[in-house]
Amino acid sequence: MPADRTGTPGTGPQGTGTPAVETSGLVKAFGDNRAVDGIDLRVPAGSVYGVLGPNGAGKTTAVKVLATLLRPDGGQAQVFGHDVVGEAEAVRARVSLTGQYASVDEDLTGTENLVLLARLLGHSKPAARKRADQLLEAFGLADAARRQVKQYSGGMRRRIDIAASILNTPDLLFLDEPTTGLDPRSRNQVWDIVRAVVAQGTTVLLTTQYLDEADQLAGRIAVIDHGRVIAEGTPGQLKSSVGAGSVHLRLRDAGQREEARKVLSQSLAAQVQPGSDPVALTARVPGDGTESGAAEQAARALAELTRSGVAVDHFSLGQPSLDEVFLALTDHPAHDPEQDAGHDSTHEAARDGNRDAAHDGNRAAAPAEERTR
Ligand SMILES: Nc1ncnc2c1ncn2[C@@H]1O[C@H](COP(=O)(O)OP(=O)(O)OP(=O)(O)O)[C@@H](O)[C@H]1O
Ligand SMILES: [Mg+2]
Repeated sequence: MPADRTGTPGTGPQGTGTPAVETSGLVKAFGDNRAVDGIDLRVPAGSVYGVLGPNGAGKTTAVKVLATLLRPDGGQAQVFGHDVVGEAEAVRARVSLTGQYASVDEDLTGTENLVLLARLLGHSKPAARKRADQLLEAFGLADAARRQVKQYSGGMRRRIDIAASILNTPDLLFLDEPTTGLDPRSRNQVWDIVRAVVAQGTTVLLTTQYLDEADQLAGRIAVIDHGRVIAEGTPGQLKSSVGAGSVHLRLRDAGQREEARKVLSQSLAAQVQPGSDPVALTARVPGDGTESGAAEQAARALAELTRSGVAVDHFSLGQPSLDEVFLALTDHPAHDPEQDAGHDSTHEAARDGNRDAAHDGNRAAAPAEERTR
């Protein structure tokens, strides 16, 4: 842990006593719309903290308040102990924000953008050039370095924007949906960069609609919906809140489904969901908080089925995904293509068959990202 590496406890970015972010009852309203509706957050210094929520949940609004770009309408927020309203300058000195939408100069090349910004930050010409080259290389943009940013794809623009915000290593970096629209390879590059930035002592507050991204990167996650925190904890805690896993099985004979359902629900002491496919069944494994516990329960359930003469073609145990956590918490999927398409506030239309979209979120969201530019 970098927690004690530098600084004075209580004031320094790595100080053990002072969280990077602390809010209580934070509110930001746009007219009648309470985009942030009483958020309590505590982000420990030196970690990646994930703020996970669907379109319109209030992620960008919350980040803007914390980065002093918007004034809160209620509650309190401190960044490294500094009030975002009363000590906005001190907050600004420590944070950097990579916004959801690219803000670099389109007419300049990748290198020109980064060198210019680095010069504005006070780097010497050679140091600026060196840092720019380093970041362009790290972000897979070396080949595009001499091209104007307006010729970049959406994903490339996102990467250059992130690079621009870490020219100087900030104490707290806000990354607002940093990988939306990136292809899987670029996304992995960004994840690696986030990990590297954190290893150097920067705290990262990352917003995302992608559960696997929060799971991959964040030590703790706040799930927000309609401007409120509806769950908070480690990825493991959030997952265990919906059970230890799910078993999926396919029967040889649809006629045995009722018998199989009975045996399973007795063995697992859990609800069993019949799938739309007449030979499929899914059941939550309540578990005892450990993976081996879930595996043992699943194995016992399978043994019971065999003993009862139920012929099983396929049996598998899966970890609960954060998608399942989100569904369990909010009753709607975390990623909602209907909403992306129309920014419609109803979730009903997209509820069915939408989980795969959440798993493959970046691709699904790419058109939305392009459209908003
Ligand atoms: N400048 C603004 N003026 C009026 N309403 C706004 C403004 N910015 C955001 N809102 C509203 O506040 C709510 C939260 O929006 P916000 O952009 O914070 O959500 P988000 O979680 O970042 O969503 P997304 O995943 O789509 O980026 C939405 O209802 C949005 O329409
Ligand atoms: Mg947003």
